[in-house]
Amino acid sequence: MLNNKGFDLWADDYDKSVGLSDEDGTYPFAGYKDALNIIYNSVLARHGKAVLDIGFGTGTLTSKLYEKGYHIYGQDFSKRMIELAYEKMPNAKLFQGDFSVGLVSELSKNRYDAIIATYSLHHLTDIQKIDFLNMLIPLLSDEGCIYIGDIAFKTRKDMELCKMQMGNEWDDDEIYFVFNELKNYFPKLEFEQVSYCAGVLYLKS
Ligand SMILES: C[S@@+](CC[C@H](N)C(=O)[O-])C[C@H]1O[C@@H](n2cnc3c(N)ncnc32)[C@H](O)[C@@H]1O
Repeated sequence: MLNNKGFDLWADDYDKSVGLSDEDGTYPFAGYKDALNIIYNSVLARHGKAVLDIGFGTGTLTSKLYEKGYHIYGQDFSKRMIELAYEKMPNAKLFQGDFSVGLVSELSKNRYDAIIATYSLHHLTDIQKIDFLNMLIPLLSDEGCIYIGDIAFKTRKDMELCKMQMGNEWDDDEIYFVFNELKNYFPKLEFEQVSYCAGVLYLKS
């Protein structure tokens, strides 16, 4: 599992390497652009302009919303990722902090129309994911929605099948989303499979 220094080192090459993996349709980023586009269009279709991005990286998704006049807030633990995201979104409110220990206090005070986490929360264990989502839900506005775009599967069986097909490529350090297990804790959770390894999860307030 990469720590913040590992992400600092990856940051300048991040957009390129993710783009290549997506274009080639290779694990782990096959479906990346589609997942981000689905979330982007869904946020645009809803009302409200306050968006929180958890683990925003270089700001690939939120910078597009920023250009449309959305108010972007975010938390990431990589200093270099934050610098690159600020270049695209100079007036965004971006904070450095480790989400495995929660949100920084500046972000916990607000309400958000959309809370986005793309390819970041697979660094949390399943129990940590449940706790983290329970902490985020009260931060949503009345019509708000949490969007998770990530390596995700409808069932554990689907995930095991993908793992078998990926062989040595599979990253055992990452803990991917299994929709039907998480739904036991969040009955309103919805899921869309985007590629053989990518999915979008929706959790409305
Ligand atoms: C794979 S990148 C995804 C970036 C972006 N959301 C995207 O979709 O391209 C994961 C991001 O999450 C951040 N991250 C990973 N673990 C984190 C943690 N525990 N606390 C805060 N940020 C974290 C990394 O620094 C990195 O910017």
